[in-house]
Amino acid sequence: MTAQLQLLQKGGPFKVVQVPKPTPGPEEVLIRQRVIAFNLVDAKQRDLGIGIARWPHVLGIEGAGVIEAVGSGVHHLRPGDEAAGWEGSGALGDSWGGAFQERVAVPGYLVAKKPKNISLEEAASLPIGFVTAVAAIVNGLKIPLPFLQGLSTEGQAPLSVLVLGGSSATGAAVIQLLRKAYPSLPILTTSSEKSHKLLSDLGATYVTKYKSHSVVADIKAASPGGAGVDVIIDCVSAGARQTDITDVLDPSGSKRYASVVTGVPVPIPEGVSKVDVLASDMVGVQGGKQLIPSLINLVEEGRYRVPLPVRVVGHGLEALADVLDEVKTVSGEKVVLTL
Ligand SMILES: NC(=O)c1ccc[n+]([C@@H]2O[C@H](COP(=O)([O-])OP(=O)(O)OC[C@H]3O[C@@H](n4cnc5c(N)ncnc54)[C@H](OP(=O)(O)O)[C@@H]3O)[C@@H](O)[C@H]2O)c1
Repeated sequence: MTAQLQLLQKGGPFKVVQVPKPTPGPEEVLIRQRVIAFNLVDAKQRDLGIGIARWPHVLGIEGAGVIEAVGSGVHHLRPGDEAAGWEGSGALGDSWGGAFQERVAVPGYLVAKKPKNISLEEAASLPIGFVTAVAAIVNGLKIPLPFLQGLSTEGQAPLSVLVLGGSSATGAAVIQLLRKAYPSLPILTTSSEKSHKLLSDLGATYVTKYKSHSVVADIKAASPGGAGVDVIIDCVSAGARQTDITDVLDPSGSKRYASVVTGVPVPIPEGVSKVDVLASDMVGVQGGKQLIPSLINLVEEGRYRVPLPVRVVGHGLEALADVLDEVKTVSGEKVVLTL
């Protein structure tokens, strides 16, 4: 038997329940969880029941642990390996539960060996931000990231990019990936002041406070030649509150706006082309199934760093329900729980 944290109904409560230990299918691996990383979507799913087809439900979409068993078709992992992965989402199917359990069986392609140079906590914090960032850049805006094997290289480099929400897990990954692919690309971003240095270190050329009254004018002034930016990647639905943010787009640029789907609609004026970004879309696109192994290789080779500091907020499945709200107030960090 193994324990899982079941969400019994929309809004809670949670209950720790013993269930039979899952047997991985031929293409799956069974992970004994050691770390569960939190995402805002976990709290949203708890509160609103989004994407939950039946109750009780096991939430959680990323984590890390030790491989306990592998299916006959999985060759890149062995029992005993420490590994991290994208561990479930309603959008990916519901044949396995989410990350909020002691043992989780997931498709092998969503899991890769932990890089030797980072901790298990750091490894658990990486997958969702990375995949969402790639979804925004490559799938949403057709901006190639040539160092990621297997992905489409159609499309072209932007002239400049504004990343709204640079200190979010997604935004910090977007900045790092764009900088890696395009060394001289102007990357402008927004965050609270405490994350400005971090975002500059990740590769942003200009960072400003999104709560400033002059944010639109400041970004425009900082864009190349003061003409405005070519494209916007909105990682946090910032455009829902800052409704004039598209004024920073260069009228002669490509005027594209990639909006990570958060549940909060972003109104976009005519003449700007908006694309909604879903991480789960990456599973079905060319090269999407190579993303987690690519991420781990990049980290191990020192070519991609853990974008945000990681904070442990609790220990044990029983504590999880009490600390889940921490995710609603994160600022420039990832929060995780150990098991
Ligand atoms: N559709 C998908 O497939 C998908 C995938 C992943 C995430 N998401 C959603 O995307 C959103 C981001 O997720 P995440 O995990 O990357 O975020 P996160 O790390 O939880 O984001 C927290 C950060 O957002 C920043 N922020 C909040 N409002 C902002 C604003 N108006 N302007 C600039 N920065 C702002 C905060 O910055 P400061 O602390 O600096 O103020 C904080 O550091 C969430 O709503 C999540 O549910 C969707």
